[in-house]
Amino acid sequence: MIIAIDGPAASGKGNIARQLGGHFGYPHLDTGALYRAVGLAMLQENRNIDDSDAAAKVAENLPLELLDAAEIRTAEVGEAASKVAVHAAVRKALRGFQERFAGQSPGAVLDGRDIGTVICPHADVKLFITATVEIRATRRHKELLARGERIIYARVLADLKVRDQRDATRKEGPLRPADDAFQIDTSDLDIEAAVAAALTFITSQRT
Ligand code: DC
Repeated sequence: MIIAIDGPAASGKGNIARQLGGHFGYPHLDTGALYRAVGLAMLQENRNIDDSDAAAKVAENLPLELLDAAEIRTAEVGEAASKVAVHAAVRKALRGFQERFAGQSPGAVLDGRDIGTVICPHADVKLFITATVEIRATRRHKELLARGERIIYARVLADLKVRDQRDATRKEGPLRPADDAFQIDTSDLDIEAAVAAALTFITSQRT
């Protein structure tokens, strides 16, 4: 069973995806980490983030060791990830890795922006996780402070708005719910309630 989960930054999709993976015993891929790894490598190599060819080369030789690195979680790398994600050649280079991951038996959970629409259009379950931008900014701000970043809430809010806009309006694989996605608004839900809502939907789909 493939579970495809999409949604904007800090909507809670990663947390829900991890928990569903644990529940079903499936591996989970945070596809945002792929774009973050490319973004970080571009920053480290002092490359122009808008250089599509350079970014595609990095993506073709994906620095897998960066996927678990704490450095990819900074606000700066999130911004760089969103910028490299605009390049069609980057998205193409990262596609095979995601498709292979999704093809694992007996199942897999992937979260990102275009999983239900582009990477796994035939996923058994598609979820689209949302929350108001203010609530997402509050969550992200807390996370960044906990990681030791010095950043104010207003900056996180402004950055998220710009990132949402960029992610939703790019030509390739824009952020949008698949037509058959089940939407969960986590603005007023804690993680347990959000996972419970997802599980209720999944169970109803399979019976
Ligand atoms: O989920 P995240 O915030 O870690 O993602 C970082 C950026 O990566 C996001 O702003 C856009 C890009 N991304 C994407 O374009 N497609 C995906 N499937 C996942 C992430």
